[in-house]
Amino acid sequence: MTSTNPPGHGESVHASRAWWDAEAVDYHREHGDFLGAHSPDGEFLWCPEGLHEGDWNLLGDVAGRDVLEIGSGSAPCARWIAGRGARAVAVDLSSGMLRVGAEAAGRSTGPASRVPLIQADAGHLPFADSSFDVAFSAFGAIPFVADSAGVMSEAARVLRPGGRFVFSVNHPMRWIFRDDPGPEGLVALFPYFDRSPYTEYDDDGQLTYVEHHRTVGDRIRELVTAGFILRDLIEPEWPEWLDREWGQWSPLRGGIFPGTAIFVATLP
Ligand SMILES: C[S@@+](CC[C@H](N)C(=O)[O-])C[C@H]1O[C@@H](n2cnc3c(N)ncnc32)[C@H](O)[C@@H]1O
Repeated sequence: MTSTNPPGHGESVHASRAWWDAEAVDYHREHGDFLGAHSPDGEFLWCPEGLHEGDWNLLGDVAGRDVLEIGSGSAPCARWIAGRGARAVAVDLSSGMLRVGAEAAGRSTGPASRVPLIQADAGHLPFADSSFDVAFSAFGAIPFVADSAGVMSEAARVLRPGGRFVFSVNHPMRWIFRDDPGPEGLVALFPYFDRSPYTEYDDDGQLTYVEHHRTVGDRIRELVTAGFILRDLIEPEWPEWLDREWGQWSPLRGGIFPGTAIFVATLP
């Protein structure tokens, strides 16, 4: 049974919280080692292509900076930047995901052990205006919310003038293909311009999973409308050393077209 109306913000948040709570353990069993999610002092990978913040420095020098991670999951990235001197704060919708992070952080003897893990919706960040120098998200929240323009506005609100906002999401062009890492996933089937979300419902008609598509132009427009200046758009190439599949991400597809887009923006 499916609903005919596309889910709005509240329904999407409700479904995502339940889905990530239920999946937290399995998600970390499958991807935790790659992400460094069980590491007490964290790791910082932007995407399944393995792009590491230590190599790319997309956040700039975070030492002494107030840095917010939005949709942190178990917050390995927030823990990693805490080790580089950031005053890091992690926000996620799912208590199940944050619990995995608390367990890992509990084994740290360094600054990672002090990163606040806060359960909140990215659309309503529980912080005063101008609280942070940097905000970022590695596949957290943004693909799952109906109102991604609202998340951009929230990021702009909590950042100080000159603040930096960096986020990675599925590359919008992936929308036209089936979520299949093999040859079936090379055939274009779905209209790029159809913003109807991908949804799954249970037998009672309850939304259980949702992802919301935006085109590249939509993402840029939402950033600009929120007051940001776009500085870079990174499309990570599939590295030769990586033979690992992650859902629809694979060496086969990664060698042909991008799977991730990383937007780098600043406030004036
Ligand atoms: C794919 S995980 C990414 C997290 C982390 N970077 C990682 O790689 O594990 C997506 C995360 O976004 C969170 N999320 C989804 N919707 C959210 C929302 N509206 N507000 C805050 N977090 C949200 C989920 O709970 C989940 O932890």
